[in-house]
Amino acid sequence: MKKNYKKRLLNMIDEKEYLSDKFNRTTNNKNLDAGGRKKIPESWSKIHFKTYPRFNKVKLTRSFSKKKISLLSVLNKRRSTRTFSGVSISIKDLSYLLLYSGGIVNPGMVLDESRRSYPSAGARYPLEVYPLVIIGNEEIKAGLYHYNVKEHTLEVILEEDLKQWLLESTGNFKPITKASVVFIITGVLDRARVKYGDRGYRYVLIEAGHMAQNLLLLSTGLGMANLAVGGYIDFKVTQLLDLELVKEAPLYMIAVGGYV
Ligand SMILES: Cc1cc2nc3c(=O)[nH]c(=O)nc-3n(C[C@H](O)[C@H](O)[C@H](O)COP(=O)(O)O)c2cc1C
Repeated sequence: MKKNYKKRLLNMIDEKEYLSDKFNRTTNNKNLDAGGRKKIPESWSKIHFKTYPRFNKVKLTRSFSKKKISLLSVLNKRRSTRTFSGVSISIKDLSYLLLYSGGIVNPGMVLDESRRSYPSAGARYPLEVYPLVIIGNEEIKAGLYHYNVKEHTLEVILEEDLKQWLLESTGNFKPITKASVVFIITGVLDRARVKYGDRGYRYVLIEAGHMAQNLLLLSTGLGMANLAVGGYIDFKVTQLLDLELVKEAPLYMIAVGGYV
């Protein structure tokens, strides 16, 4: 019966079963154990925070002016921009974008109970963010950083001009080298997998979309141009970020910069 159903499905489109079809089929929920468990495993409630303890840090701020921005105005205004003016970003704006897109907005809580501005399946928070500062200034040098969510600081991975790397990684997409910063979003797959198995990969991708939309709307609200970028060579990102292949996957890039 099951086999026939699969066969019929395949005939409807073509004979080939794509990897994405297989993934979709094998990660369907067959049943739900909603609330059935008496004891929640610790691995389902512990929130993991990636840190680079031996790296230098750049302090970020949590104090911003109370200027109100209407959500409807940013929703109306957001559009992809493919020309950037080549200005750098201030630490204040960088802090604001990181804190409200993916940081802990109400610090002081027990960390395993902390929450963020985007929803996360089972509060597993699999995402990491690496701001790649393209154009540096006195406050922040050009280079690659990791956002330490727990401390709301930036860890310095590399201080160097990464424009050439960006060109090579994005198929020579020149406009991106005039953006101020590119936020590289990755996903630590095990954090979601421990609870949801392979279905967790769906949630990791969905969450990257939530965080990315936060970055796009927040930067639009700051009067900055932005672009969502999915066109990059994954292994170049994996190499630069020194990620353990497969365990932490590059998912998305959001470029933010000045309007021309
Ligand atoms: C997942 C995703 C990946 C994208 N990748 C790229 C990209 O690599 N390069 C690019 O120029 N635009 C990219 N875009 C932007 C889309 O082309 C753009 O959102 C679309 O044309 C609609 O235009 P709008 O964003 O101005 O509404 C991407 C958008 C999404 C959602």
